[in-house]
Amino acid sequence: MQTGLGHVISKELREKFAQAKSVLVLTGAGVSAESGVPTFRGGGNTVVWKGMPFDVISSAGMLERDLPAVWEWFNYRRNLLESLKPNPAHVAVARWQERFSDFNLVTQNIDGLHQAAGSRDVIELHGSIWRARCLDCGTRHDVRELKFDDGVPACLKCGSYLRPDVILFGEMLPMGAFEAAAKKAESCELCFVVGTSVVVYPAASIPEIARAAGAYLVEVNPERTALSDLCDQVLMGRAGEILPLLG
Ligand code: APR
Ligand code: ZN
Repeated sequence: MQTGLGHVISKELREKFAQAKSVLVLTGAGVSAESGVPTFRGGGNTVVWKGMPFDVISSAGMLERDLPAVWEWFNYRRNLLESLKPNPAHVAVARWQERFSDFNLVTQNIDGLHQAAGSRDVIELHGSIWRARCLDCGTRHDVRELKFDDGVPACLKCGSYLRPDVILFGEMLPMGAFEAAAKKAESCELCFVVGTSVVVYPAASIPEIARAAGAYLVEVNPERTALSDLCDQVLMGRAGEILPLLG
């Protein structure tokens, strides 16, 4: 296993990058850190909201107990995002979709910054903070078109309560999203794992599936993770500084 010093991209990785046709990139909160989006973990801290750890306020149980509180939390996260822009890591990944004939971007992020950077067909494993879904008829809505008169917006189709179209702790991933990502992981030659602590499953199994299928696995993270020992190359640093170095 090779460990990159700072931002040195090895000759081997450059060759793999130059020759690859099928590439999969899995991203987490860290890819948006340089845009100003707070990560959930990393640096030994976890996010707390009004005295509640984020995985409590962002849980299926809280949705049952207190839907207005869940909306308040996601409205707060969304307001944080309003003024934030994609960073060079998002821009590099968006460029890669033109470079590789079979390119797949799988993200755990709900912030929409990959799409804002021009990425298309992003597999959003955890949904999107910009969407809401009807608890009754399942209709999806663009949050920007909704009114929040009493804290919980109503479905424009059937009038029932809407919930954030985000995967909460204790919930299954959106139908088909994980399966699609796993299928792409089984056939990719090169797999980048960028800015994730790889602790949340099943998303964290994607690089394991790719590695087991013979892919060359590259991690980009300023910290080591549980996946680092499985990787062919670990680039310890910030995604916004490292990804553009590849091209
Ligand atoms: N570049 C690359 N990686 C970074 C950067 C950066 N500039 N800054 C921080 N990181 C790394 C951290 O070291 C950490 O390993 O990004 C990782 C962020 O980890 P988490 O906060 O745990 O985020 P993520 O892995 O995406 O969490 C998975 O958990 O909270 C739920 O649903 C939520 O999708 C999220 C899931
Ligand atoms: Zn409805």
